[in-house]
Amino acid sequence: MLIKPPSDIRSSEITDKSLYLNRRAFMRAAAVAAGAAATACVSTDALAGSGQPAAHGRKLENVKSSPLSTSELPNTWEQITTYNNYYEFGTDKDSPSRYARGFKTTPWTVAVEGECNKKAVYHLEDILKGQTLEDRIYRHRCVERWSMVIPWVGFPLSSFINKCEPTSKAKFVEFTTLADDRQMPGLASGVLPWPYVEGLRMDEAMHPLTILVVGLYGEVLPNQDGAPLRVHIPWKYGFKSGKSIVKIRFVEKQPVNTWQRAAADEYGFYANVNPTVDHPRWSQAKERRLPSLFTNTPTQIFNGYGDQVASMYAGMDLRKNF
Ligand code: MTE
Repeated sequence: MLIKPPSDIRSSEITDKSLYLNRRAFMRAAAVAAGAAATACVSTDALAGSGQPAAHGRKLENVKSSPLSTSELPNTWEQITTYNNYYEFGTDKDSPSRYARGFKTTPWTVAVEGECNKKAVYHLEDILKGQTLEDRIYRHRCVERWSMVIPWVGFPLSSFINKCEPTSKAKFVEFTTLADDRQMPGLASGVLPWPYVEGLRMDEAMHPLTILVVGLYGEVLPNQDGAPLRVHIPWKYGFKSGKSIVKIRFVEKQPVNTWQRAAADEYGFYANVNPTVDHPRWSQAKERRLPSLFTNTPTQIFNGYGDQVASMYAGMDLRKNF
């Protein structure tokens, strides 16, 4: 995000193959029409290369459909698994699809720490025990202005938090994700302070829309999308959704999230999608709904989930708390 403004995103990084090929033809024609200057912008180099879609995984059983899903058409498996931000596996959009293939996600444990009664190291199987998995088709809006619609499979974060029995001192939840330099080539770059950390206010974490994600399109979550366990908060910019979570800590003070640590003037704690609050380097008024090439879809306040979430921020200055 910091190192790659949206204007630099290559069209080839959106990899629905037929659309990509059509676009290639379209862009070649456009370049010819526009003359030599445009030809330089569509050099073979800029269009070459795309990620490998994830192999299909185990089908998840007993998944209920959720009334909280959007009725918008989801992006394809190919798009969702080849256009990712997961800097532990590299900063290009197709890097995670290339370098996370051998990532080992079993066995997996999550440490629960801080202000709660049930501190322990939990096996993923135990976290999943008794949870009803749901299909949750959510809008997903990145701070870089691209957006997708993703059919996650998950369960409310609140139902896991309740099992942890947070104390009255727990005002925030902090998520820490895996940083394993034997498996994650991106860690060597030092592009971000590792491990990747994110946080939510307790009411945000307990909100029925906030989910722990374990699957995609009814199958086990692909590595590049945050396997085996990530969070998704659909009214916030994507960077709030930590991938491959290994620690959940209940804390009294507002956590400092990784992007805030890296560039506090550009990335805040709240990160609520807001078309009226620009990023210092670009407007947030519109977005590019992948696989479109054009940033022409109006962005909605709270990513379209305002009816459900706006009351949590009543009276807050959203320009200061960006
Ligand atoms: N989690 C970790 N551990 N590392 C990351 O680099 N990137 C964030 C978020 N979670 C990131 C992460 C950003 S910037 C976005 S937009 C989303 O993941 C992207 O999720 P997606 O690739 O599933 O679309």
